[in-house]
Amino acid sequence: MKIYSKSNRKIAVVGAGYVGSSVAYALAISGLVSELVLVDADTAKAAGEAMDLAHAAAFIKPVSIYAGTFEDCRDAGIVIFCAGSSQKPGETRLDLLQRNYAILRESLPELLRGGGNGILLIVSNPVDVLTYAALKITGLPAERVFGSGTVLDSSRFRHNLSCHCGVAPRNIHAYVVGEHGDSEVLLWSLAYIAGTGLDCFCELAGIPPVDRVEIDSMVRNAGYEIISRKGATYYAVSLAVKRICESIIRDEYSILTVSGLIDGAYGVSGCCLGLPAVVNSRGRGNPLKLPLTDKEEEALRNSADIIKAAIKQINL
Ligand code: LAC
Repeated sequence: MKIYSKSNRKIAVVGAGYVGSSVAYALAISGLVSELVLVDADTAKAAGEAMDLAHAAAFIKPVSIYAGTFEDCRDAGIVIFCAGSSQKPGETRLDLLQRNYAILRESLPELLRGGGNGILLIVSNPVDVLTYAALKITGLPAERVFGSGTVLDSSRFRHNLSCHCGVAPRNIHAYVVGEHGDSEVLLWSLAYIAGTGLDCFCELAGIPPVDRVEIDSMVRNAGYEIISRKGATYYAVSLAVKRICESIIRDEYSILTVSGLIDGAYGVSGCCLGLPAVVNSRGRGNPLKLPLTDKEEEALRNSADIIKAAIKQINL
């Protein structure tokens, strides 16, 4: 039931599973949103999640939270697509492709019929391939269709560097780019603390140099490590999504490694990948040109090749 008036801070979350319900929770308590609609094929699940969140009304800023249909999503400022399966132990994100592409392909035409002016944010995995598919299916401009990309991975990178260097993650600039998955690329050459390169910072601070192999493995395999222990991941990814929505709603122009169409940057085209880009109320800008090392650019192109091979599997 809609209590508060509609505004451009209306967000729709499609998929009320672990990730979708966690995204709804993160947004509900953020104070960013005035209206939050949850949609799921399991209507009882969506209704239950909406009720459970709506009952927090006395503890959070006013937000109208309800379960709805695709029709209720059409005037949303942001539609967040979280529907589909999540990785089971031992599965890669690319293993989810056929199942989750089928759900995306079936949902989007109905979801966006009469298409509003909103932003479509893809979260379901494999997020880079599904973001590219969403662009093809909807025909919407590239700036309005993008994915959560490697925003979560960049946070994992910064978390690990923070633990090593004893500095708050918000004071660490470090990006992961490429596939949100096994071929992702940690940009060590662009990792800076207080305006100082990582190795120089550690040397001047008398801290042992970073074990790059260890941190690379912890970041790259974080999803598997969590899934093997608790069966799924949802808290950090939902807060990554909330962070992306924050930059859109507040028109922040923040630089985030969201997944978007690459048309020539770094010698890559014809797919979607996580790269640092400006995110504001209009959506995602073109990926920023940054001075990657030759090795980093090569690894990024390898990641692009893996995504393009997956795109071919769904005949796009
Ligand atoms: C992870 C999921 C969201 O990396 O792919 O936790």
